[in-house]
Amino acid sequence: MTYLTSLTNKPSIDDTAGTSNADFVAIENISKRRWGLQFHPEVTHSPLGKDILKNFVVNISGAKQDWVMSDYANEFIEEVRAMVGPTGHVIGAVSGGVDSTVAAVLLTKAIGDRFHAVLVDNGCLRKDESVKVLQRMREDCGVNLRCVYAQDRFLNLLKGVTEPEKKRKIIGGTFIDIFQEEANKIEAESGPCEFLLQGTLYPDVIESISYKGPSATIKTHHNVGGLPASMKLKLIEPLRELFKDEVRELGMALGIDEVSVFRHPFPGPGLAIRILGEVTAERVKILQEADDIVIEELYKSGHYRLIGQAFVVLLPVKSVGVMGDGRTYENVACVRCVETTDYMTADFYHLPYEVMSTMSSRVINEVRGINRLCYDISSKPPATIEWE
Ligand code: XMP
Repeated sequence: MTYLTSLTNKPSIDDTAGTSNADFVAIENISKRRWGLQFHPEVTHSPLGKDILKNFVVNISGAKQDWVMSDYANEFIEEVRAMVGPTGHVIGAVSGGVDSTVAAVLLTKAIGDRFHAVLVDNGCLRKDESVKVLQRMREDCGVNLRCVYAQDRFLNLLKGVTEPEKKRKIIGGTFIDIFQEEANKIEAESGPCEFLLQGTLYPDVIESISYKGPSATIKTHHNVGGLPASMKLKLIEPLRELFKDEVRELGMALGIDEVSVFRHPFPGPGLAIRILGEVTAERVKILQEADDIVIEELYKSGHYRLIGQAFVVLLPVKSVGVMGDGRTYENVACVRCVETTDYMTADFYHLPYEVMSTMSSRVINEVRGINRLCYDISSKPPATIEWE
């Protein structure tokens, strides 16, 4: 960006900055104290974006930098107690990801067992995920959590489905049905439940607004408020104003374990949108094994925390290989690792060759059903993070 003028003594609206493609990307009217930007300073790809925001908040508006995460948590806990009252109940879905974990721990701190967390195992989770989440959230964080084992129900409905949006709709719809069933059980056991916890983040809010507007984004997945209005529950959204890195800071301030706090995000439809083509129990198993090895190698090599999101995609393509004296004709899989903080833009992560090499030999040798492993070198935009 070329800065055309300095920020001094402008009597009227003026273009302040431009690029070779756009005459102005920033405007200002100093006497009226107004400034406008024609780009997103908050996304990863905007150099000095944070400085621009900080300059506005601290130097122009004069706000004090006296805000700390633990205050945010304490204020929220007090707010929830006042909202829910001494006997009210709150229900919320959790996935084991950082957002729902932080939201669930906050609620547990506020109202204890009157917060009811529900984990749905849709058969498309990572390897041993529901067991590990139960351990971390129930045992380690004291969250009142129940798990619904619904693998067969989801996989039966996904039979023969290859279209990504259809997979999303089936998984989203079935999830809602199951959640409603659990809500009914909880009400029968504990009394009326008027509130619903959602781990909505600020980028979800932004992306869902643009999804509905003229600049329609591509996928229907950023479905903020994804549960039906018919549930008539009042929403509690403690993370609605936070970016991912701030949620992590809040998680640390709440004393949540580092594995939970620094976990990469995982999409609601899970491995179903990482298995291109039909989702079957056999393909889920193959992908779970490969994904588990890749994530383990990222932890071991110290790269996990430097990456925004990492996973394996199972392609609907077979290739020829050799194993011992014989030929194989097996699936191709692709490793995707991206560097990002906002998930709206992302660069592919420059993973060292040695790590790729270990991953590739382990996956191909240890996972029956994969004989070729690729590495995705696309950035977002124009590619998205997920493949479907
Ligand atoms: P994309 O693929 O749009 O992903 O670049 C951006 C972020 O959103 C996550 N994602 C989803 N999350 N349901 C979700 O809850 C979905 O259907 C879904 N699709 C993508 C993705 O993992 C990334 O973090």
